[in-house]
Amino acid sequence: MVSADRPAHSVMPEARYEQLVQAVVDYAIYMLDPTGHVVSWNAGAQRIKGYHADEVIGRHFALFFTEQDCADGRPARLLRQALEQGVAQDEGWRVRKDGTQFWALAALDVIRDEHGQVIGLAKVTRDITDRRESALQLDAMRAQLFQAQKLEALGQLTGGLAHDFNNLLTIILSSARLAVTSQDPARTRRLLDHILDAGQRGTELTQQLLSFARHRQLTEARIAPAAVVESTRSLLEHALPRDIELLESVQPGLPMIEVDAGQLQMVLLNLMFNARDAIPEQGQIRLLVEQVQLGGEVEGLHGDFVRFAVHDNGQGIDPLVLPRIFEPFFTTKAFGKGTGLGLSQVYGFAKQSNGAICVSSQPGQGTCMSLYLPACLDANPTDG
Ligand SMILES: Nc1ncnc2c1ncn2[C@@H]1O[C@H](COP(=O)(O)OP(=O)(O)O)[C@@H](O)[C@H]1O
Ligand SMILES: [Mg+2]
Repeated sequence: MVSADRPAHSVMPEARYEQLVQAVVDYAIYMLDPTGHVVSWNAGAQRIKGYHADEVIGRHFALFFTEQDCADGRPARLLRQALEQGVAQDEGWRVRKDGTQFWALAALDVIRDEHGQVIGLAKVTRDITDRRESALQLDAMRAQLFQAQKLEALGQLTGGLAHDFNNLLTIILSSARLAVTSQDPARTRRLLDHILDAGQRGTELTQQLLSFARHRQLTEARIAPAAVVESTRSLLEHALPRDIELLESVQPGLPMIEVDAGQLQMVLLNLMFNARDAIPEQGQIRLLVEQVQLGGEVEGLHGDFVRFAVHDNGQGIDPLVLPRIFEPFFTTKAFGKGTGLGLSQVYGFAKQSNGAICVSSQPGQGTCMSLYLPACLDANPTDG
């Protein structure tokens, strides 16, 4: 609102305003009367919408909306909102003179005279089709990247899984063969129990693999850390060589965390794959999950967090390499063994979840990766 003690025209005469507005080509700037009819038109409006001034002046601004939006009463609603609240903003499809559409960001501001009377509305519209498309592309690329990384993780898992399935099938087949020829009902019963047991284990394994493979949506939800650790561990066990021992310690009664479970599972898998790759022959991977209170010592974070620490006693990380490990595509592994995307996904996930990822490493001794995720303390503690 223009107040009486602020002379609106003292800085720049009206003709200069007009010149300024006319010179703008990146924004459509035009005026509407209080009923929504066009009263002025600038060069940007002509460029963006395709109409000459003499084609649109006097026409209602609903002309620029899609048929559907007009049927839904969108132009009238925006006008009413601007008149009632002083301003209205909108984002959506608009139609050019030639019928093509663009994605517009528009603002409608009420203009009043020095007595507070509404004399019209200023409409500023920007064509942000490109921006919207790049945002959509970025989303699609993120989803694709997640999918690609998941396939890679699945590839790493299936080698070990195939081996385990083979073992289960061997148990099933040999027990079945023995049962067929067995004369002793008690023995037959025991053999059938073996078959059921092996079949059950195989089913659980496929279910976990499928639920990891199918998880598509990146949706945040409250989850119990112990449950994610449990399903990840049972997947991972099969991907570890026999000489690598997996130890796990999950503090009881951990608070809930609010993240996408599929992404967290992949982060944990990535950290453990790296730990596995760092162990030349024999070694140990320890997964520790605990609640911690931070007072700024980890990347300035404060408050209650759940810490997932993956320790390995492998080769460690060279101090020269250390600053680069979170970079996308940075890898010290042979072609075909590493993509260099694991830790960049871990880093992105930690940031996006308002947490952090920290590394400490001693060459020749081993590495510890700590992922911190904010705890939801208002929720009930979990029993895991
Ligand atoms: N636990 C670890 N021990 C030793 N080096 C590691 C460990 N974790 C990560 N690195 C180093 O960080 C690099 C990047 O890791 P990552 O982003 O997961 O890509 P990739 O595993 O495909 O190489 C690895 O190539 C390796 O040099
Ligand atoms: Mg990796």
